[in-house]
Amino acid sequence: MRTQVAIIGAGPAGLLLSHLLHLQGISSVVLETRSRADIEATIRAGVLEQGTMDVLTAAGVGERMRKEGALHHGFELAFGGKRHRIDLHGLTGKSITVYPQHEVLKDLVAARLAAQGTILFEVSDVALHDVSTNKSFVTFRHAGEAQRIDADFIAGCDGYHGVSRPAMPDQATRQDYQKIYPFGWFGILVESAPSSEELIYAQHERGFALVSTRSPTVQRLYFQCDPADKVDNWSDDRIWAELHGRLENHDGWKLKEGKIFQKGIIGMRSFVSTPMQAGRLFLAGDAAHIVPPTGAKGLNLAVSDVKVLTAGLVEFYRNGGEALLQTYSETALKRIWRAECFSWTMTRLLHTFADATPFEREMQRAELENIVSSPALATALAENYVGAF
Ligand code: APR
Ligand code: PHB
Repeated sequence: MRTQVAIIGAGPAGLLLSHLLHLQGISSVVLETRSRADIEATIRAGVLEQGTMDVLTAAGVGERMRKEGALHHGFELAFGGKRHRIDLHGLTGKSITVYPQHEVLKDLVAARLAAQGTILFEVSDVALHDVSTNKSFVTFRHAGEAQRIDADFIAGCDGYHGVSRPAMPDQATRQDYQKIYPFGWFGILVESAPSSEELIYAQHERGFALVSTRSPTVQRLYFQCDPADKVDNWSDDRIWAELHGRLENHDGWKLKEGKIFQKGIIGMRSFVSTPMQAGRLFLAGDAAHIVPPTGAKGLNLAVSDVKVLTAGLVEFYRNGGEALLQTYSETALKRIWRAECFSWTMTRLLHTFADATPFEREMQRAELENIVSSPALATALAENYVGAF
């Protein structure tokens, strides 16, 4: 097989890249280890920045997002027994849409297949070859057969645990940056109506908590936990007691309970791997960077990487220009570091650090008080949250 761009991974980065290239007349083939059903069933966060909404709409895959997604003009910060609304739209003129990531994937897969795009699901043994030459190729197994794709470019969109980043040439000179947080998030999916119209990020001495949503009948809740803890240690009653304890205060608002149908613990880290390109191999999304979920930036960064990469590939195929491709890493990293900084800030501000001194706890509280009482600081937080940077 031959294509212009071989794309490894059918997550938001890989599928959106394939579709944006298609809209510019550039061919691609997407290789994915999991099945279509599996990727469309993995329920993941979906807080879409204005910029992401605009890219999906311009690519013709925004209809269901606009119909079924929930437009939020603000979110709440809860601490010290009070809730404070951050008026995103009032402060920045922009809003977010809550639309789960797997719904975005469903829309992208449907659009690719409707356009006769090639997505090979359930591949295995994916390996990248000669990526430092302009004769790069990918070998893999599909439907029990060994196969090969020759491509001008390879886009590594296969996430943190994929094969693309390890296949980057000059491993010795690569610079990785990492911070692993001493806590995780215990996440639940619940059958119930929403408890609040907007997301609630709560800082509490017992630890962070988050009220989020998936739909009018399915809610998503998280609380800070020991990353080494076990799901089985948490009965439903214990979970609800913890969430009520961290989220409710004296204003009468109550968290709605419901049937918990999924529980899980996720680790928290900040990670950036540079450079994001070498030879004809380009990394995008989680393959090159991870953010802790506190800033809701993961999906949005994957989309912004792909937007920058598409511009470079379009220039190359339009007029042979390589300027945008050569500066891909540098350009993408500008936004990535800002999102990493925001995600680290939100994590630092809202979680309880076991080794924090009483002075540091008061500093944390004072910083939160500053944000909710200073329009300038609230605006800075809001700009970062909606992605206006
Ligand atoms: N070959 C082919 N596909 C692979 C391989 C491989 N060797 N390894 C992993 N994959 C697939 C995974 O099964 C997954 O479907 O690559 C895809 C990577 O998708 P994501 O991990 O979703 O990464 P990305 O597209 O960069 O999207 C980032 O996803 O995890 C969230 O919070 C994250 O929202 C962010 C978004
Ligand atoms: C989620 O809905 O899962 C979610 C929302 C906002 C975050 C993180 C996760 O910051």
